[in-house]
Amino acid sequence: MAENATASTQELERAALDSLAAAKSESQLEEWRVAYLGRRGELSTRLRSVGSLPPEDRREAGASLNRLKISLTAAFDQAVSDTSKSERQTVPSDAFDITLPGRRGNLGGLHPSEMMMREILGVFNDMGFQTVEGPIVELEIYNFDMLNIPADHPARDLQDTLWVDRSSKDKILLRTQTSPMQIRTMEKQKPPVRIVSPGLCFRHEATDATHEWQFHQIEGLAVDEGITMSDLKGTLYEFARRIFGTQRKIRFRCDYFPFVEPGVDVSVDWNGRWVEIMGAGMVHPKVLEGVGYDSSKYTGFAFGMGPERIAMLKYDIEDIRHFFSNDLRFLSQF
Ligand code: DAH
Repeated sequence: MAENATASTQELERAALDSLAAAKSESQLEEWRVAYLGRRGELSTRLRSVGSLPPEDRREAGASLNRLKISLTAAFDQAVSDTSKSERQTVPSDAFDITLPGRRGNLGGLHPSEMMMREILGVFNDMGFQTVEGPIVELEIYNFDMLNIPADHPARDLQDTLWVDRSSKDKILLRTQTSPMQIRTMEKQKPPVRIVSPGLCFRHEATDATHEWQFHQIEGLAVDEGITMSDLKGTLYEFARRIFGTQRKIRFRCDYFPFVEPGVDVSVDWNGRWVEIMGAGMVHPKVLEGVGYDSSKYTGFAFGMGPERIAMLKYDIEDIRHFFSNDLRFLSQF
């Protein structure tokens, strides 16, 4: 009987150690502990039954079961610490792959109109022109009267202007051009003046591929003693060289704008076609006198251009309406 008990204790030990070796996770280890070392586990059951053995076998059987209990407990503790170490080292299958490149945030970018304006302003800033900004909601006298556009001038046509308030004494409108910034600047400072002024303008217009009812303009103005038409041409040639490259042809042609005399339109060669990019001219003496400048002493030139038009030429954009339709398929190309 004693031999049997010993033999079966050895079998139990082997079986226990085999199944402990097979337990790979903490939950399997816990199952093992309950099965062998738990209160209702194999060892406890056997220890409880020692009392029913013949008295001469009890001592030996009890002692060997207790030794087994101690050695299994030690084996179990070892297995628990080995498992927790290896579980910590093994990356779970649902973890992210640290070798993948990071995900890019969705960064916005500059609007193509803004990019084009910054480029143009940069060219003029390099030539000594200072950037100034003015109101989009403008007074009629700045937008028209003081620019030598009398009340009966066609540019005043209701069709062209978006009025904010026509009933007040000083009528208010959305500026139709950036030219009022010529007046606002000259009212504030004495010559020499060298400014560029970017901003939104609005006209009550039917839209098509080259006309929008809102668009940007960049106004330019230089006033000083002895400024001539050759200063105008030299400055605008340099502008065209910087924006379109040294090989691009540009053309000056007579044109009419009420606030300049003489006035010109400036066109650039676009695949054998002349495309107008701005109006310009020598500031009209009436405009200089209107702000209190002595027109016998000072002369100046002015220009006004559409950055969207220029971007269209530069980047081959076929429709000006893309600029304000907020379509990311267009905007994200810049
Ligand atoms: N403001 C004019 C327009 O919107 C453009 C222009 C023409 C501006 C001649 C000027 C200029 O400063 O000299 O059509």
